[in-house]
Formats: sequence, structure tokens, C-alpha cells
Amino acid sequence: MGLSMSYPCGPRLSFRDFATADISAVHEYASDPEVTRWSTWGPNTLEQTIAFVEDAAHAQLKADRTAFSLAAVLDEKVIGSVGIWTTDPHDSNGEIGYTFHPAYWGNSYATEAVSTLLRIGFDTLQFARIGATCHPGNIGSIRVLEKSGFTLEGRLRSHRLVRGDRRDSLVYSILREEHAGTLAETTAG
Ligand SMILES: CC(C)(COP(=O)(O)OP(=O)(O)OC[C@H]1O[C@@H](n2cnc3c(N)ncnc32)[C@H](O)[C@@H]1OP(=O)(O)O)[C@@H](O)C(=O)NCCC(=O)NCCS
Repeated sequence: MGLSMSYPCGPRLSFRDFATADISAVHEYASDPEVTRWSTWGPNTLEQTIAFVEDAAHAQLKADRTAFSLAAVLDEKVIGSVGIWTTDPHDSNGEIGYTFHPAYWGNSYATEAVSTLLRIGFDTLQFARIGATCHPGNIGSIRVLEKSGFTLEGRLRSHRLVRGDRRDSLVYSILREEHAGTLAETTAG
């Protein structure tokens, strides 16, 4: 799959490919240590944010695109970065990630974004399984995954070396049939 495309919207958020004009909006949250507390990256220097946005923007030009890093947009403002990528093409496995500006936390925006990522992953990219990992202390992210129908599969001990500390990761996933079941219940209910 190549070139830029349009993506499903949520009730409040829209999603689009990044452009270099988004650098300052992304840097507002990507440079904030509170935002990157549980992340494996950051807090970003301006150069790191520029590299992230430019890489994400260039990805849309690739003919064999396997990663979608998208801007989450509310009222024309970029309030978060969300991503979905192929981890394993043969087995149709993908993974998601998300980061939002702290001024917008607690309004279910991340949950709305995950709902869109799952539509892209299962409907467009035809994944059979979508995974997510997060730090056991990241209560907000755990809650987002639970609300989105993910199942906790286990805990990878001392899985990551982050800013000098070894950290565990929780592993979550949702399967195509579970997602289809959730949508059927929503429609029926
Ligand atoms: C994690 C993150 C994406 C959540 O975004 P958000 O838009 O606030 O998420 P939502 O509002 O959809 O859901 C968050 C849920 O967690 C709950 N929550 C958040 N922090 C909490 C805490 N410290 N204790 C208990 N619950 C908490 C919220 O109450 C909400 O649950 P509810 O709807 O049942 O009340 C956001 O905090 C963020 O960008 N964090 C930094 C980046 C990050 O950690 N990304 C994930 C990496 S795995």
C-alpha cells in the first residue's frame, strides 16, 4: 500500500498523514517529560521531533508502506500522534501506539483514536491480530487498551532499557474476530 490516503474519522477526531508544518505542534507534547514518562523514547529534542515528523511524512511516499504514523486532529489542531504498523507480514500481525498532548488527557480521545486504528488495522491492512505493549505503571494506557477490548497476554520482564533503567512491559492484543464481535454488539445494542 503506498501514497497518502484518507483515514476513518472518529466522532470528534480526524486523522491524517504528518506534514513538516506539524513540527511545533508535535514538539509541544513530545518534549514534555510527563508525556514521555512511560515511553521508550523522549523527551524529544527539537531535532528528534523534526526527524520523527519528517520520517512520518516521508512514509506516505513509500510504495510498500507498512507503517502509518498519523496526526490526531481536533478542530484543526494536532493534539496527538498515533501509529499502526506491520510487525509480521506473513502472520498478518500489527501493533499500535499513541501519544496525546496532556491538555487533552481524560477526554477519551485516545480511546477514540484506538477505535480508528483498529478499523485501519482490521479493515484496510487486513491484520489478524493487533498488539500493544505498555509499561505496567502506565495506568492511563492500560485503561485505554481495556476499554478498547484488548486482552492482557502477559508481562515481559526486564524487556526494555529506557533511559538507563530496565523496565517490564505488559503485552496486550485484540484479534480480528473479537473486534468484529464488539462491532456486532455495538450495532445490535
Ligand atoms: C495514555 C494516554 C494516551 C491516554 O490518553 P487519554 O486521551 O487521556 O485516554 P482516555 O481518556 O481515552 O482514557 C484514559 C483512561 O485512563 C484513566 N486514567 C488515566 N490516568 C489514570 C490514573 N493515574 N489512575 C487511574 N485511571 C487513570 C482515565 O480515567 C480514563 O479511564 P475512564 O475513561 O475509565 O475514566 C495519554 O495519557 C498519553 O498520551 N500519555 C503519554 C504517552 C503514553 O504513555 N502513551 C502510551 C504508551 S504505551
